[in-house]
Amino acid sequence: MIELSSLDITNRRGIVTGAGQGIGRSLALEFGSRGGHVLLVGRKLDTLTETAEMIAAQGGTSEVLVEDLTKQGAVARVADAVSGWESIDLLVNNAGNVRAGRLENASDDDVQSMIDLNLTAPILLTKALLPRLREGAGDRQSILLNISSGIALVGMPFYSVYAATKAGISQFGESLRRELINDNVHVATVYPGATDTAMMSSQNAGSELGWGRRALDDVIADLIAALEAGEYEINTTPEDRRQMQALNVSDPLAVDEAMAPNLEALEEAVRDHRSI
Ligand SMILES: NC(=O)c1ccc[n+]([C@@H]2O[C@H](COP(=O)([O-])OP(=O)(O)OC[C@H]3O[C@@H](n4cnc5c(N)ncnc54)[C@H](OP(=O)(O)O)[C@@H]3O)[C@@H](O)[C@H]2O)c1
Repeated sequence: MIELSSLDITNRRGIVTGAGQGIGRSLALEFGSRGGHVLLVGRKLDTLTETAEMIAAQGGTSEVLVEDLTKQGAVARVADAVSGWESIDLLVNNAGNVRAGRLENASDDDVQSMIDLNLTAPILLTKALLPRLREGAGDRQSILLNISSGIALVGMPFYSVYAATKAGISQFGESLRRELINDNVHVATVYPGATDTAMMSSQNAGSELGWGRRALDDVIADLIAALEAGEYEINTTPEDRRQMQALNVSDPLAVDEAMAPNLEALEEAVRDHRSI
């Protein structure tokens, strides 16, 4: 068995998408407070500026780029923003959105928006930045961190499109990790379970429906510890969801059966879940 080698996450220079709030802001702060220099990307100047101030207060430095990653040319503009940097050894593909509900009720625009932001943008951004990441800074491995979701491991009803994008980004990471085995890039995928952020504020399902939530700080602490330990499949889902993930591998129909009695209640609880 191949042993994991620990990863130095201090003094990183790179990009965090969706850095104005939630998981992205927390990760930008983690890297910033360890001496990092981070390009903070998102659509809202005010929240990105707040993140930049928080990083500065913790001794790190940052730059802000206001960009909607689903727009034509956005990826090239992000790459341009760092083209003058001497080196890049971090890319966190975090920005994401969600719309729940029955597939036939989803608007085509919402379907496209989830695919564009959760799947197409991180793939294109990675492609654009890969030569820089491969070059990295010195002997250390660069870090490519893709934020997937626990839903990539257990497809939840009423989330078929979101699940497709998250399973897509996790397979992208697995494939790329193998492709880059001889390169100096550590490819890691994160599988957060439901995490208490703004993304979840319009969702009302609790642990009784398989959606037990964790506090953001706990998720980030586990994520950072796992990354530093050199892990590449980082699962921060709560214990009950992990049991469901194991069952989904050994006996997927048993998961169908377990979810079936609660289908109506779940549909009601996620009816308004939208962060687009
Ligand atoms: N929270 C959870 O329960 C959970 C669970 C599993 C996985 N995840 C994943 O974790 C990641 C972060 O989630 P979160 O909970 O922190 O979500 P969040 O609070 O909704 O934050 C999403 C971030 O993405 C940015 N963003 C949204 N649309 C964008 C666009 N078109 N272009 C550029 N940036 C955009 C937002 O900033 P602006 O509005 O300023 O653009 C925001 O900073 C997502 O990929 C999500 O799918 C979350």
